[in-house]
Amino acid sequence: MTNKYMYFIANWKMYGSISSINSLNKVIKFSKSKEINKGRLIYCPPYTLISSFSKKFQNCQIGLGGQNCHESETDGPYTGFINARMLKNAGAQFVIIGHSENRANGENDKLINLKIKNSINSKLKVIFCIGETLSEKRKKKTKSILSKQIKIGLNKIKNKSNIFIAYEPVWAIGTGIIPKSKDLYETVNYIKSKFKGKPPRVLYGGSVNPNNIKNLKEVSNIDGFLIGGASQNANKFIDIVKKTYS
Ligand code: PGA
Repeated sequence: MTNKYMYFIANWKMYGSISSINSLNKVIKFSKSKEINKGRLIYCPPYTLISSFSKKFQNCQIGLGGQNCHESETDGPYTGFINARMLKNAGAQFVIIGHSENRANGENDKLINLKIKNSINSKLKVIFCIGETLSEKRKKKTKSILSKQIKIGLNKIKNKSNIFIAYEPVWAIGTGIIPKSKDLYETVNYIKSKFKGKPPRVLYGGSVNPNNIKNLKEVSNIDGFLIGGASQNANKFIDIVKKTYS
């Protein structure tokens, strides 16, 4: 059983519609119950739902975030994009940056660094995703990949107090496979060791569900979870939180 303050971040990816807002009632009720006095729930829905979620969460402690943003701090001629300022304006307090699904679409560490800088300037808290692919893991490159992603992604960012790291091994996302507890503990320790002074909070993401949470919560240096598929179902999301504290 853990007594730690933990973060539970729902990454809805490209799922959800206006009618999904009703599914939040259960989670809002749960967020006000005593069962969750030790943790924080944060939803990252598609952009189109941010402002309605923001209204829905007005009287509760549930946080709200975007799943990405454009790297330009100022507004400009970028058809189809939004920047960190716009996310903040729509009611978000967080933003996910560097998700492997976006890295796979061409985002590199330097671009991610710019996005993180501008998000922080716009007063958003950043959930910075890092993780190795299966082939990098097989070649035993996990540490060097993570080190490079952290070094370039956080280059010239002095104040890291608003940054969360989400360790998401690419091979664990959406596959039902999770790392061995011992390996996960060691990797999270490695990530924390890369920082001078107080390390950032490190979350784990990749196939977190109500069945494997019992094992994952035993990894004592993890500060929370970034949850994709299972977070779209309010019951499963609540179950994950409950099981973390039971
Ligand atoms: P998953 O996704 O929980 O569906 O594996 C996690 C993520 O991509 O953030």
